[in-house]
Amino acid sequence: MPYIYTPVLQITATQSELETLLAAYRRDGKSIGFVPTMGALHKGHISLITLSINENDVTVCSIFVNPTQFNDPADLKRYPRPVESDREMLENAGCDILFMPSVEEMYPNEDYSLLNEDFGNLDKVMEGKSRPGHFAGMITIVNKLFTAVKPHKAYFGNKDFQQLTIVKYFVKKHRLPILIRECPISRDIDELAMSSRNRLLSVEERKAARLIPSTLFNVKEMWGRKTIAELKAFVESEFANEPVLKLDYFEIVHFETLMSLMEPISPETPIIACIATFAGKIRLIDNIRLQ
Ligand code: PAF
Repeated sequence: MPYIYTPVLQITATQSELETLLAAYRRDGKSIGFVPTMGALHKGHISLITLSINENDVTVCSIFVNPTQFNDPADLKRYPRPVESDREMLENAGCDILFMPSVEEMYPNEDYSLLNEDFGNLDKVMEGKSRPGHFAGMITIVNKLFTAVKPHKAYFGNKDFQQLTIVKYFVKKHRLPILIRECPISRDIDELAMSSRNRLLSVEERKAARLIPSTLFNVKEMWGRKTIAELKAFVESEFANEPVLKLDYFEIVHFETLMSLMEPISPETPIIACIATFAGKIRLIDNIRLQ
């Protein structure tokens, strides 16, 4: 009889049950990998799950649409929640445990108090400026999830580069025994960075959104030959000519401090270009490492 592998995804909504599921692994000294998500999973998420499966004895994925990191209630309301297809994707990927708590489980008694962390410049610029309170909400839930899962390694995608930088800073500052694994941006066939929000785009918006990666690739190609001011002017003119998209910001910043850069720039400085745009009401972000 051929052996048929039937993947079993254990699903839990409570922290106490999660702890029971993980207790045996902890007792046996097994490694725990963790992929926090807000669901509406795509191939980018699955690449994190696969990496975690390859690097750990057990992989936990969380799906929780965290209300405290949305500064716009309409954005929270429209955030996609395709629970059944998410579950199927995780099962097919071979994920071991899905943690899918309720809002009450993560914020009992409607206590939405947030961590009051000082991130210096890191949460003041770009997304921090455009989405006030977003990073306080994000780090509050990430900390709660880290406490619930107690992973050895946690996996974050590079598309949310500023989020990743803040999580790394937080883990280092509080000496949490968690290795943060940074994973490359997954791009679709048209090069658009994969995002749960992409499924909210109309056909026209989706087509126009190709301008985001193509502009970043052009910036990278021109890097070293044009000044930062010239590159910013180039990006602004590209988006001014595309009525379906609205540029929120384009910044060229230091890879670690996220400080805006001035010329001249030494070849050793690590630099990244970050962009945020609106396609209608849908916010899309992307980035590219320049040097
Ligand atoms: O990147 C996300 O999906 C969310 O910000 C995270 C890390 C799951 C926290 O809610």
